[in-house]
Amino acid sequence: MPSIQVFPTPAALFHAAAEEFLRIGSEAIAARNRFTVALSGGSTPKSLYSLLGSGHADFDWPHTYLFFGDERHVPPDHPESNYRMVNESLLSKIQIPPENVFRVKTENPDATAAAADYESQLRTFFALSPGEFPRFDLILLGLGLDGHTASLFPDSEGLKEKSRLVIANWVEKFKTYRISFTFPVLNHAAEAMFLVNGPDKADIAQQVLEGKTTPPFPAQQVQPENGRLLWMLDQAAAKLLS
Ligand code: 6PG
Repeated sequence: MPSIQVFPTPAALFHAAAEEFLRIGSEAIAARNRFTVALSGGSTPKSLYSLLGSGHADFDWPHTYLFFGDERHVPPDHPESNYRMVNESLLSKIQIPPENVFRVKTENPDATAAAADYESQLRTFFALSPGEFPRFDLILLGLGLDGHTASLFPDSEGLKEKSRLVIANWVEKFKTYRISFTFPVLNHAAEAMFLVNGPDKADIAQQVLEGKTTPPFPAQQVQPENGRLLWMLDQAAAKLLS
């Protein structure tokens, strides 16, 4: 069962999300001397990254390893690039060794090759054997108005992937590929944390958290097998929850 936390304001939501990030991070570093995180893109997490970047320079960033749960197939300096957003709101403000930041090489015009390269970066970093999946300490996720998460969109081929870690997922409505973690990776996380804010997300949040749709929304298919599922929402996004 997901743990659902609702906060009165966006500021309270992002402060709590930062606390959760730092708590999991400190515990992971104390236990294993490293903290592995997959960051989400879009607009929602930017406030969290800005908070971490401005108020937590003293966090143990040298033992923190940052990955991207999904990325747009645009160059890293493009306005739609998740890497660019994270770089501007977080990376440019903290002392993290550049080798601790694993970005998708989206400058590669071949999205499938970029996804395969990113998969091999994960396999090397986590020293995976064939058929094994990485266990991130924390995977941050958002919720799209259509119920997508990462870049796993409704009716997209990527929903069916069972063995690869990273795919180039064709998104018909945007007529482009997105590079995305697959469900097996999301569901091997120690913690999957959804961040959802704003009144425009209230309807889809209610459907995803309380509805039963066939097929299920992609966000409903995030069910960590041996991990925690946490939904953090502000009051506006949670207003239709019973
Ligand atoms: C992306 C994200 C995506 C995002 C949702 C919500 O690259 O766009 O990873 O899954 O989390 O689309 O986006 P907003 O936060 O902008 O509403």
